[in-house]
Amino acid sequence: MHILVLNGPNLNLLGKREPDVYGDVSLKGLTAELLLAAPEDVQLTFVHSNHEGELIDALHEAYDYAGVIFNAGAYTHTSIALRDAIAAIKAPVVEVHISNVHARESFRHESKLAAVCLGVISGFGLTSYTLALQALLVHWRNRHD
Ligand code: DQA
Repeated sequence: MHILVLNGPNLNLLGKREPDVYGDVSLKGLTAELLLAAPEDVQLTFVHSNHEGELIDALHEAYDYAGVIFNAGAYTHTSIALRDAIAAIKAPVVEVHISNVHARESFRHESKLAAVCLGVISGFGLTSYTLALQALLVHWRNRHD
């Protein structure tokens, strides 16, 4: 089974960017952690882009994947185009955030994406991604066993 790990704007600066909020592990470090956490039969593909259209293209590429783990960064709060892309594909998408967006500025409390996602995981640091991976595996098994 194939899962896309998709990271949006500014997440290439993980480790350097506001470490008090996002921690000191880089995007490369996150990739390594997820590769360790994934069972052998799971193929992970990693895509990062700072550009909305490229994120849409990556979602289209993952049309019939077993799942997508998606941190859309600030586009979470603004992008109807990303929401439509999530709604357009068959793959279940888990919205993830490193920080607890509900404990932050009010403009981060709204997600344009959440309603078309399988679920949302927010506030567990990089563990948000491994929790999302577990959630997608359980979801996939429930549908295929
Ligand atoms: C974020 C939260 C967003 O509000 C913010 O714009 C980000 C990162 C997170 O992972 O906590 O870029 O998605």
